[in-house]
Amino acid sequence: MSIPSTMTVVEITEPGGPEVLRPATAPVPVPGPGQILIRTAYAGVNRPDALQRAGNYAPPPDASPLPGLECAGHVAAVGAGVTRWREGDAVTALLPGGGYAEYAVTWADHALPVPEGMAMDAAAALCETYFTVWTNVFMRADLQAGERFLVHGGSSGIGTTAIQLAALRGARVFATAGSAEKCAACERLGAEAAINYREADFVAAMRAEGGANVILDMVGGDYIARNIKALATDGRLVQIAFLQGSKVSLDLMQVMLRRLTITGSTLRPQSVAAKATIARALEAEVWPHLAAGRIAPVMDQTFALTDAAAAHARMEGSTHIGKIVLKVA
Ligand SMILES: NC(=O)c1ccc[n+]([C@@H]2O[C@H](COP(=O)([O-])OP(=O)(O)OC[C@H]3O[C@@H](n4cnc5c(N)ncnc54)[C@H](OP(=O)(O)O)[C@@H]3O)[C@@H](O)[C@H]2O)c1
Repeated sequence: MSIPSTMTVVEITEPGGPEVLRPATAPVPVPGPGQILIRTAYAGVNRPDALQRAGNYAPPPDASPLPGLECAGHVAAVGAGVTRWREGDAVTALLPGGGYAEYAVTWADHALPVPEGMAMDAAAALCETYFTVWTNVFMRADLQAGERFLVHGGSSGIGTTAIQLAALRGARVFATAGSAEKCAACERLGAEAAINYREADFVAAMRAEGGANVILDMVGGDYIARNIKALATDGRLVQIAFLQGSKVSLDLMQVMLRRLTITGSTLRPQSVAAKATIARALEAEVWPHLAAGRIAPVMDQTFALTDAAAAHARMEGSTHIGKIVLKVA
């Protein structure tokens, strides 16, 4: 594969709305030891990209300043010491940043094979949400078969992944979403019931079932106290974002009396080794189900790389269901 010295990228020109995303030309990155260079076919768009664009989620110091946390494509070059991948291999990868570009560098251990039979656009939509759901719902909250699982934002990229993985685990799955259409999508994916939070109270709905054993929440704000009420004894609440704010006044008595656990994490700042551990667990336990077609990313819409601003506007308009991707090559 001949690699050019420069490439088309989309950069954040200044903190702001979608319009600050603009096409530009940048040098093609060079993979260091343990890294690979990917010729990007599609790049996934995630809510954290929008937070970064708005100036609320700075990339780690050693990461590309370009947005983009996941992509799928072909290996264009490998760094010293990489034995797993060869030039031309089709991969889907978690990126430290830099996905909105014709070429991206990541750690060899953060790439996975494109599941057999999966198209590149769907493959590009896997890593950020699968890594996040796996580490939070299964490694951190230890969701078990038969337990009641509630995910807020059930129609989001994260939500559509969480519903499918929890159902695959044998959990009883419940979701919240903001419209009848979104609720129907959650139920098609395996949620036993989806609660339209504009019309019904998820606390009452979950208490009627005996409470949630695990809740995955991205909303925060007044959901935090309501989540505590909705949890069963020994329940676990996992925060992965605070769309409605992280500062609240709370009575934590119920945490003690009902032995609740409140935890959370963000994926991006975790160590290279920690993300590699998640990748290997996904490859062993989830990738066979993707290859068999038992689960699949829910695809919303594809935009050209140079239309990244329109992709962000769609995501922030919150009418999408599932994943938005950028077609790069
Ligand atoms: N911790 C981590 O490592 C990590 C990693 C990836 C993503 N995340 C976070 O996970 C969340 C989902 O990411 P994504 O890429 O899947 O985004 P997404 O597809 O844009 O989903 C966001 C969802 O949140 C709901 N929502 C938006 N504003 C809301 C509000 N004020 N109150 C209640 N619900 C609201 C929307 O659904 P409705 O229309 O139903 O309200 C939408 O489906 C984001 O907050 C993101 O930052 C965290």
